Formats: sequence, structure tokens, C-alpha cells
Amino acid sequence: MVVPGQQNQEEKVFYPPEDLRVDAHVPDFNSYLELYKKSIEEPEAFWREVAQEFYWKELPNGQLLQYNFDVTKEKVYVKFMEGAKTNICYNVLDHNVLTRNLGEKVAYHWEGNSPDLRLTITYSQLLKQVCRCANALKKLGVKKGDRVAIYLPMIPELVYSMLACARIGAVHSIVFAGFSSESLAERIMDAQCSILLTADGVYRGEKLINLKQIADEALEHCREKGLLTVQKCMVVKHHAFRINGNDTCNKLQTLWNAECDVWWDEAVDNASEECDPEWMDAEDPLFVLYTSGSTGKPKGVLHTIAGYLLYTSLTFKYVFDHHQDDVYWCTADIGWITGHSYITYGPLANGATSVLFEGIPVYPHVGRFWEIIEKYRVSKFYTAPTAIRLLMKYGIEPLQKYDLSSLRVLGTVGEPINPEAWMWYHDAVGQGRCPVVDTFWQTETGGHVLTPLPAATPLKPGSATLPFFGVLPIILNEHGEELEGEAEGYLVFKKPWPGIMRGVYGNQECFENTYFKKFPGFYVTGDGCRRDKDGYYWITGRIDDMLNVSGHLLSTAEVEAALTEHSAVAEAAVVSRPHIVKGECLYCFVTLKDFREFNHSLMDELKRKVREKIGPIATPDFIQNAPGLPKTRSGKIMRRVLRQIARNEKDLGDLSTLADPKVVEVLLSQRCEAAA
Ligand code: PRX
Repeated sequence: MVVPGQQNQEEKVFYPPEDLRVDAHVPDFNSYLELYKKSIEEPEAFWREVAQEFYWKELPNGQLLQYNFDVTKEKVYVKFMEGAKTNICYNVLDHNVLTRNLGEKVAYHWEGNSPDLRLTITYSQLLKQVCRCANALKKLGVKKGDRVAIYLPMIPELVYSMLACARIGAVHSIVFAGFSSESLAERIMDAQCSILLTADGVYRGEKLINLKQIADEALEHCREKGLLTVQKCMVVKHHAFRINGNDTCNKLQTLWNAECDVWWDEAVDNASEECDPEWMDAEDPLFVLYTSGSTGKPKGVLHTIAGYLLYTSLTFKYVFDHHQDDVYWCTADIGWITGHSYITYGPLANGATSVLFEGIPVYPHVGRFWEIIEKYRVSKFYTAPTAIRLLMKYGIEPLQKYDLSSLRVLGTVGEPINPEAWMWYHDAVGQGRCPVVDTFWQTETGGHVLTPLPAATPLKPGSATLPFFGVLPIILNEHGEELEGEAEGYLVFKKPWPGIMRGVYGNQECFENTYFKKFPGFYVTGDGCRRDKDGYYWITGRIDDMLNVSGHLLSTAEVEAALTEHSAVAEAAVVSRPHIVKGECLYCFVTLKDFREFNHSLMDELKRKVREKIGPIATPDFIQNAPGLPKTRSGKIMRRVLRQIARNEKDLGDLSTLADPKVVEVLLSQRCEAAA
């Protein structure tokens, strides 16, 4: 690794600002290299030191990290600090209150969808709320090891309930509250959850969403399948409906099933604010979080306690260069891994003050993000490229109305950031003085794996730069050979770090097949990657049948399955097409059954079908009638050709393996120019 920019003077490189380096945890590039070397050469000593920051009821006796990545030898597994006893909730709350004296410090500034809905929650208040919720869950019958499904919007109760689960040793399975009832049901059934937590409703911008109704429908789906494991449904009365006599029942007509449903207020508010933590093994499960699978069935990614705690805590501290007077804001939803790791566990483990935001970037006006940064004096800001591209469209006027001088570090996550968006973020939002940390990671990695450190790493727009401590990235070619130096190929990892996933819930075979089979001995990310002459990594995008729409991974198979469920559709093939704001969007080819007419009302029905099966995030942008699909003689769809048609590429390359090349001409002549 050489200092970037020294070799090629023309390359655009941004060096860390001097003022940030004064008190930074990793103040320069050499410090990064030294620490990195230690993390790779002496991982035991490195992680033992990190573990000292936390409370352990019992320490582990053996080696910290044990694993096998070689699927041809034995079962794939990763264990970290096995035998140690701890509780993650105790560490992120009690430990801060009791040992670090942070009880009065603000843990969250919550701001609702509507700007006048606000709440400030200190660490000691958070601890009490979590204990109350933990006691209520116990009373409802939740025991250590049980799975709890959480389908809540971004309200404080979401944080309370996930930490309450962690406190009593239950496994939380949070489902993003934008998913449909069928998606929720599928996840509840897969993890056999015993309790469901939801809210009566939520406003997203001006739209009112009846969450309880969706939750009820999900339970109905489970019942129909004969797989109803949920005994109780605890319902939070949303803060928006608690004020001004704004009665939820009038607006939402919440149906109530007295046998199953319990109001949160009634179960939690009177519960004791003390609850002893359950002392857990370091390798006990902490949570399951579902991510799209290339076969179409979502995978329950499983994370365990100690490794996840240490990894999210350390990445948060270094990647955002966290200091006690910071105000940090991650705009993600806790329903995704970014929220789990960098709204809840990582920041709390560091005793940080965060903004917890329920709303959307453009409601009630397009300057909402900038208004919040000014209001809370946010110093570290973490968002997604799709949000940056959306806000870029409105120019710099909305930014100029607010004081953004508190900002020190900007972060992005979820998808490749195009250099244009990177520059706007850096110049317009960060006013040229804030480093942009482009963090590459996955639900499966638990925390950042490729990322700059703000005071140490010279930046190149569009590159996630270098590995975090303990992470050893490797690039392989198609034959599984390791490529040295400048190279492009499959991004894989040879060794685990503490925060890597431990399995796919209840499905070891899927775990091994998905991540370890293609190249035995390596964890395969599914992303392509290029390494430049300075050793910098540039993610080139997915190399499987996954799409990244607005930072959310979707599988083409999942969307195809939803489309073919419609009675008019005989066959469907979905590919990605670049999108100016979302990064990628869905372009769907559908072959209709005989005599069905392709028209606007059918298109609407198809879109509705996808929304029902998956959720609004998967709504197709383009739907094209495809009387035939380009297939090889063995019947395999040539997706490459479909992608090229969707992208309006003129040269379609070699079509000689197609069974019927005329199909392509027809598709080209009927290509969609405008969104459906
Ligand atoms: O393709 C990569 C992309 O998002 C995928 C992981 O998605 P998910 O598990 O939903 O987690 C998203 C939040 C961590 C990756 O396989 N991705 C994520 N971050 C980046 C990225 N692609 C390029 N640059 C990034 N910074």
C-alpha cells in the first residue's frame, strides 16, 4: 500500500483536514497502517484490548476467534469469545449509566415525521424504558431464545423493544415497516416468532399507513398456511395519535382481537423499570435480519452477541471518529442492517448522542435534512447515495437556508456512490471541509468492512478505499485464483472478523451454498471489485442476480415470482436499469398467457401485485410486453441480452446461441422509453 495520489498527480485525491486530525482516534495514514497490521498479525491481542471496554460476567478461556471457511473440509462456522458471558443490552445501557457516568447524557433526540413531534431520551431514561418493555415481554411469555418479530416505524419504541429482547435473551427479528403483509408473514413463519410488535399506524410524509391492519393480514397468512406461531400482538399507539385528542381508532379503525392483541401502554407503562439482564453466552443469537436471496426466498441472517457488539462499537468509533460531544445522525431505518448497527448498537456502545428520525427527506419541505442538522447541531452525518442524489435535484438553495457549520464527517452506505454525487455531498453539504466516508458492507458483514477513516485515509470519490481492522479482502478471478496488485474480480474474504454473520437462520445448507460454495475457503460477498495501484478498492456492483434499488437489495427471482403469480402472466424476467436517483431500478419483461391484452390497467395490476408480495420498494419502473424471451437452446433466459435491451445498448454482441434470435428484434422494437 502506498500513500494514494503520490504516483499519479492527476488523480483526484482528498486529504484529511488538519483540524480533524488534532484529536482523532486514528490521526494519520501511518497510524492506520500500524493498527491494521496489528489487527491482522495479532488479532487475539487486538480484540482482547477492544473487549476490555465492556463488561463480561465471565471471560472466555480459549482462543477468541475460531472458524472454518472451507466447505470441503467440515461444516462452516465462526465463533468469537465462545464461553464468555455477557449481555449486550447491559453493555450499551447499564454500563454507560453505572460505569461511564453517562446517565444524564442524551442517547436520542427523536424527531417524528411531523417536525413538531419530538422527544429527548437520556441513557437512564432509555434504560428504564427498555427494562419496562423487557418485563412486559416476559409477562407475555417471551423466554430466552424465543424469536420476537418487530414491525414498527422509526419511533423510540422500536429501540426499546429490540434492546428489551437483547436484555432477556430473546432474538429480535425486525421487519422494515414498509414491507407487505406477505413479506412479514414469510419472515414470521421462517423464524417461528412467538410475539409480534407493531403500531396502530404511521404517517410517512402525508400518507397514513395502517400498520396494524397489515400485521393482522400477516398473521392471517400464517394461519392459512397452518404456521401461526404468534401468540400475542403488542400494539404501540403511535405518538402522532396521542396528541390533541387525535384518536387513532377514528382515523384507522384499528380492529382489535382481544385474545391476541395487547396495547403497549397497558403492558409496558405499569411494568417495573428494573429488570435483571439475562447473562448470555458470547455466541448466543442476538438477532435475525432478513435479506433478499438470489433464489427469491429471503435469508434470515443470524448475528450473535459478543462479536457483533465489539465490531459495531469499534467501527462506529473509528469510522465516524466519535467523540463524546458529537451529535451523530444516521438517516437509515432500523429495519435495515444500517439501523441495527449504526443507530442502535454501535452508537449506544460508544455512549453517543444520536438523532432518531422517523420522517422522509422531502417532508414537509425539501430542506428537512438540513433543518435537522442545524436544529441538533449534527456533527457526524450518515446517509445513502440515493438520498444525496434525490436532494441534489433541488440544488443548493435549500441548503443555504440552514447553518451546517456543525458538520465534521459525512458518511454514505448501501450502494456505489457516483463521483458526481460524492462531489456534491463533499462540496455543497460538507462545504469542502468534511471527509466523506464511503462505507462498504452488507447485512452479512455486521459492520463496515471497506471504509476510509476520516482523519487518516486520503479519499478518492467513488472508492470505499481500504479494509477496516481485522478485515483481509481478496480479489479472485473466475477460476478462484487470488489476484495480486491492480486487479478486478470477485470480492471475497479469507478470514472472519468478529461481526460477520454466523449463519442463515435454521438453514446451514443455504448459508454454505450462498457464501462459501463458489470458492471454498472464502466468504463470497457477491460483489465485483477492482483494486487500483494504491491498493484502493472500488466496488463495481453485484455479480449475481441481485439488484440494488435505492440502497435496498432485491433479487430478480423474488420480483419474477411476484409477477408470475398474476393470472395473466406466463413468464417474467427482471433486470436492472440505471436510474438517476435510485441507482438502479427494475425493468420487467412479461410474457402474457394467450389472449391476454397488454395495457395500462394490466400494468397497474402487475405493479400492485409486486407491492402486495414484497412492498413498495420493489415497485417496477418499467414493464415491457415480451411475446417471447431470448433463450438459449437449452431454455435458459439470456439475461445479458435483456439487460442490454433495457439499457438501450446498440451492440447486443453474440446472439448465435439463442434458440430464436427474432425474439430480440421484437423486444427491441417495443422497448420502454418512459417509466410505466
Ligand atoms: O452490493 C453491495 C451494496 O449493498 C450490498 C449489501 O446490501 P445490504 O445487505 O442490504 O446492506 C446494505 C447496507 C450495509 C452490498 O453487497 N453496498 C453496500 N454499501 C456499498 C455498496 N456498494 C458500493 N459501495 C458501498 N459503500
